[in-house]
Amino acid sequence: MTIKAVRGTRDLLPPETELWNRVEQTAREVFSLYNFFEIRTPIFEDTQLFARGVGEATDIVSKEMYTWEDRARAQSEKAQSLTLRPENTAGVVRAYIEHKLWERPGLQKLYYIGPQFRRERPQKGRYRQFYQIGAEVIGAPSAGSESPVRDAEVLEMLVMLLNRLEIKDWTLQLNSVGSQSSRPAYNEALRKALNGVVERMCVDCQRRAVTNPLRVFDCKVPEDQPIIETLPRISGFLDEADRKHFDEVQQILRVTGVPFVINDRLVRGLDYYTRTAFEFTQGSLGAQNAILGGGRYDGLSEALGGPRAPGIGFAIGEDRFVMAIAAGQEDKVSSISAPQVYIAPLGEGMNAPAAKLAQELRLQGIRVELGDESFRLKKSFETAEKLGISKVVIVGENEVASDQFALKDLQSGEQEKVKRAQFIEKISSLMSSYASARQA
Ligand code: HAM
Repeated sequence: MTIKAVRGTRDLLPPETELWNRVEQTAREVFSLYNFFEIRTPIFEDTQLFARGVGEATDIVSKEMYTWEDRARAQSEKAQSLTLRPENTAGVVRAYIEHKLWERPGLQKLYYIGPQFRRERPQKGRYRQFYQIGAEVIGAPSAGSESPVRDAEVLEMLVMLLNRLEIKDWTLQLNSVGSQSSRPAYNEALRKALNGVVERMCVDCQRRAVTNPLRVFDCKVPEDQPIIETLPRISGFLDEADRKHFDEVQQILRVTGVPFVINDRLVRGLDYYTRTAFEFTQGSLGAQNAILGGGRYDGLSEALGGPRAPGIGFAIGEDRFVMAIAAGQEDKVSSISAPQVYIAPLGEGMNAPAAKLAQELRLQGIRVELGDESFRLKKSFETAEKLGISKVVIVGENEVASDQFALKDLQSGEQEKVKRAQFIEKISSLMSSYASARQA
């Protein structure tokens, strides 16, 4: 039996990987304009980090984590429960605490790119190994970490990224889920409202009503939705300071031209959120249309044993970003990786001079695909054509002897001889006129 990639995981192949690289490169450029720097945390962590950070009652922790008991290898070691990271915010905050990053000047503005793991039911846009591009702003309150400026800034940064990647048809849904001080009154109201109706809801909701009533809003069971619709909204329970914070975020968004809609049912599936919570959805993606999500987590550092360090961040579902870009642009995807020149060594002993020429062209920044001296000319032309390359350089005995090369244009069928001394210049000018014609 052949071995296949595990359910919910997949191989990313060229040319699609070019698109992934473009997304990541563009994200790095945009993040750098906002003064974010990269952090890389381990792919697996102590299970407790997610239990305490993301929350025991969440779907992620209660059903979706890849957790195993890591055996001790020596008497000095202890067995430990480890988990493949289902998200990266808890890891970043752990690193913030572990390395006392608050001792560094100003706010910590950190971004990450990498795989995350959740045992969800796989479907289009939902995988068990998926990729996130995320960023977090975290720091002491005295560094301005609580300011609504931070919330508005990350949202505006995201819009710049969406625009640069030409992702259209998105909606920013925004809510405030209140602070730790306003949450108890809301939880109480939810419990009361659930009393008497929860028996008619799914078993998960019955459990949630006891452990963490806010999580009832994560329910996807269609029959439960009319009941959930009647539950009190968090917007009615915000205190004065929460409301002011939320108003200021919205005010800055209006000034910086970031369109949003308020959705006061948006609570997000992780327990650490306080105040601002948001999600971007995209029109072309179907059921899994949340392309990114995030929010504020003012109490997370303390929940993980650290100092007070309010923060805000987001994570982009990179798989879904790529899907949104690729929709209707398949031709663009495949042309990205077309090499620019094909070198055809012709006859025995020609591999070495051809390799030398390829090296010289590559040093000039020209992308080269190199054939083999055992190929007949016809085969070289066909190979170049299949790769979408129209310029073929023939390196044969006569060419080497006369110190010039034959350059064939497969599109026009024309062939000319170019002296070695002028060769690099000739190819470079052909390539730049080709590139500008393509851009026009
Ligand atoms: P999240 O909403 O759980 O938030 O995930 C963020 C994004 O990751 C989602 O909007 C979605 O695009 C993508 N995503 C999640 N699960 C899958 C999956 N199974 N397959 C494909 N894509 C998926 C977080 O992870 C928070 N850590 C975000 C954050 C950062 N909040 C504050 N800072």
